[in-house]
Amino acid sequence: MDVLSKPKRPQPRPVRLEGEPVANRYRERLDRHVAFGHKTYTPTQLVVRRAEGCWLESVEGQRLLDFSSGVLVANLGHNHPGFEAAYARYTDGVPRNCYNAISPLEVEAAERLVCNLNHPKLQKVLWADSGSAGIIKAIWAAQRARPEKHILIATRHGFHGKKGLAGDVTGDWSPNPNVRFISFPMYEVRDVSLLPSAEAGKDRLLGPYAQELEQLKVEHGDDLLLLITEPYLGAAGSFHPPKWYLQFLSKWCAENDVIFILDEVQSCHGRTGRMYAYQTYGIDPDIVVLGKGLGNGEPVAAAVGRADLMDSLDYGEGSDTYSGNPHACAAVLAALDIYESEPVVENCRAMSRVLQEGLSQLRDDFPCVAHVRGEGLVWGMEMADYRGLPAEVVANATVLECYRHGLHLLGPLSKKVLRISPPLVITEDELREGLNRMRQALTALTKRL
Ligand SMILES: Cc1ncc(COP(=O)(O)O)c(C=O)c1O
Repeated sequence: MDVLSKPKRPQPRPVRLEGEPVANRYRERLDRHVAFGHKTYTPTQLVVRRAEGCWLESVEGQRLLDFSSGVLVANLGHNHPGFEAAYARYTDGVPRNCYNAISPLEVEAAERLVCNLNHPKLQKVLWADSGSAGIIKAIWAAQRARPEKHILIATRHGFHGKKGLAGDVTGDWSPNPNVRFISFPMYEVRDVSLLPSAEAGKDRLLGPYAQELEQLKVEHGDDLLLLITEPYLGAAGSFHPPKWYLQFLSKWCAENDVIFILDEVQSCHGRTGRMYAYQTYGIDPDIVVLGKGLGNGEPVAAAVGRADLMDSLDYGEGSDTYSGNPHACAAVLAALDIYESEPVVENCRAMSRVLQEGLSQLRDDFPCVAHVRGEGLVWGMEMADYRGLPAEVVANATVLECYRHGLHLLGPLSKKVLRISPPLVITEDELREGLNRMRQALTALTKRL
């Protein structure tokens, strides 16, 4: 993706909200001292003082239910007591950095992670300090393992990060001449794509996707190096494919000696209702890239894959200052402790049904909601044009109205899709409370528009 070629949209700078004198002062000070591009635009620019579980407290003292989990990071909720206690125990007295030494925490975290992944192909870990760096390292490993192959296949409208090679395989156009995009199911499979009915008629639907890959084989033959995809398109607006699509990609890669990289930066650690999305979808990646939930908020990511691929990089070729530092590894261990002792993923599955029902009801009741799509606890609510207003305006107004009703959302995905992604530990009462606040917000908004 070429960040600089994106057209500029006029956005208020800084955001000022009526009745928020304390927050407005922080917003102004931030604007004075932090580069504008550092922040992602949301109509609220919430200023948070504290957080606990699924709740945030603003500097004005307002309590908000968090339907964003940070940015799908705090899967265990904020300041989870068990996670924090384990993290404090692991980090007690250890150095923050071990660049030119080995930390027992790193060894233990890698062992535990591979064991937790529990897949014969996912054997060795390459740590990273962000999701996009993990993607880049996964691609480097593949490139180094097969230097004679050049073509990188990516699913169109995916998001793998903004930096370097991760940016190259993002979106629908690439400055990298070796990148080829293939189609990913979007509006073809509407609303709740993981229903068994989405599997019906798959042979007919599969045809065009298979043809695109066969055409790439004709054009590039043995030059096809890897295929990278997200399990579902996140940033593009929450498009969750039927299982047969990803199973087809996985099988096609295996049959054609193409390295299959699954970007689980967002989906890992329970989001889709299983610990990993490759389990949800029944697929066999050669490398998975993990991030966000991996350290429950601590900046840590990892590419984990086949030993023959991951070991293709020589001493230092996959290292950098912060990757795999002891505190990052402590967060990985503390998170695994909780996942392995508490029913986090089971709760996600149970709450998924409540959320699906609640969001579908909102779609049925409010004409400004066009579609609802999702799985586990990662859902998208696509807004419609409404009373002459474009969906983009309706989406931003809904985020702001939800905020006024004490519900924190991310800024819209792809301009018009609201992301609903509460912590996986949310209780049924909290979830229903959040849905109720959304209903009140939509009622107030539609009366006003
Ligand atoms: C699927 C996916 N891949 C990669 C990234 C990039 O991760 P990071 O922002 O940590 O570099 C993201 C971030 O949102 C993501 O959602």
